[in-house]
Amino acid sequence: MANIVLVGAQWGDEGKGKIIDVLTENSDVIIRSQGGNNAGHTVFVGKTKYVLHLIPSGILRGNKLCIIGNGVVIDPVGLLKEIEGLVAMNIPVSGQLFISQSAHIVMPWHKQLDLLKESRKGDEKIGTTKNGIGPAYSEKADRTGIRMVDFIQPERFKALLKERLEEHNKNFLAHGMEALDFNSIYTTYSEIAAKLKPFVKETVTLLYKARKEGKSILFEGAQGTFLDIDHGTYPFVTSSNTTAGGACTGSGFPPHHIDKVMGVAKAYSTRVGGGPMPTENAEISDLLHGLGREFGATTGRARRCGWHDCVITRTAVMINGIDELALTNLDGLDTVETIKLCTAYECDGVQYDYVPSDITLLERCKPVYKEFAGWKTPTTGARSWEELPENARLYLKALEQECQTRIAILSVGPARDETFTVHE
Ligand code: IMP
Ligand code: MG
Repeated sequence: MANIVLVGAQWGDEGKGKIIDVLTENSDVIIRSQGGNNAGHTVFVGKTKYVLHLIPSGILRGNKLCIIGNGVVIDPVGLLKEIEGLVAMNIPVSGQLFISQSAHIVMPWHKQLDLLKESRKGDEKIGTTKNGIGPAYSEKADRTGIRMVDFIQPERFKALLKERLEEHNKNFLAHGMEALDFNSIYTTYSEIAAKLKPFVKETVTLLYKARKEGKSILFEGAQGTFLDIDHGTYPFVTSSNTTAGGACTGSGFPPHHIDKVMGVAKAYSTRVGGGPMPTENAEISDLLHGLGREFGATTGRARRCGWHDCVITRTAVMINGIDELALTNLDGLDTVETIKLCTAYECDGVQYDYVPSDITLLERCKPVYKEFAGWKTPTTGARSWEELPENARLYLKALEQECQTRIAILSVGPARDETFTVHE
């Protein structure tokens, strides 16, 4: 029995969905505490592929309590679609999924604002997923957001909707955009609210009760450490705390009851959207895209790819207190002749062993590499450390040492069983 926080150690898409799915076997409660449907967690059960954006991946295991916590911003249209999609695939949701009353909702104007902001930015585009995530968190901080508890009460929702639309429509009209129509939004959204209402609960007490009963709680992080609003490569970040602390604030769970923080990283690196990525290079990008890998689960965009960056992972270990690492996509390197591992950055003759927060400095940093001979054998069949090729073990040992953490789980393919535990 342990309460585990799972965080992405890179820029998201580390394969958290799959690792969560594996860990869920031994958990009773799975909770999302930040982000929204900008996240895309892919899980394969047998040959069936599931992509979840808002609902915790634990829902696929059946008989687990799944919570969308207060720190998540919820697009009601997206959530209902996800619920209906699961039901259509015979996955039970009712009685297992609970939504925090305090979670804020994403409205159509948030998506319009995302479009409007990004269209003005030219070269400095953040490359958001255009799901309205940033504007929804901005309104939350501005104390003008709409929470689930308001949303499911028709009269309250109506009043708030009227008030918010008046303000936003003035802005849209001033920018030559069409105004949003109150009646059509109210009709659509109040119907959705009625359908979501049975799922909305006081999730803080639900979580407290589960903890008191000795249940194992798993916090399903979304995005990754370097997309964190405080610790990421600002301004090329998302709008929530994707690091371990966000699990507590986004759920109402006490920090000292967390037993373990597990980081998830890929055997190489990927990033979607703008912002610095020191190890990005065409060789590995072309290779992975050629293998049909590394296209986004949410937007379908081709991800930027690079060698594994130990400076990134090491800094993520520092910020999150990562006890153990789950390393994914090892099989993506199966055909590479010479594999590089970034161990430090260099800029103006100075070496850095952590990620500098000055983005203009980070943008100029050049990776310092160690080279490893590839193993050039498929690893997907391996189910233990011993079954891995010698060169793969050498690479992984060096990675552990450079990142100052241990690899506890290795993933060598997309399926649930293409994963194994690495013993100390
Ligand atoms: P937003 O979260 O949609 O505002 O996007 C902000 C930045 O975070 C963009 O660079 C996105 O590509 C990136 N981002 C947001 N969510 C994810 C994710 O789940 N995986 C990878 N990148 C993401
Ligand atoms: Mg993803």
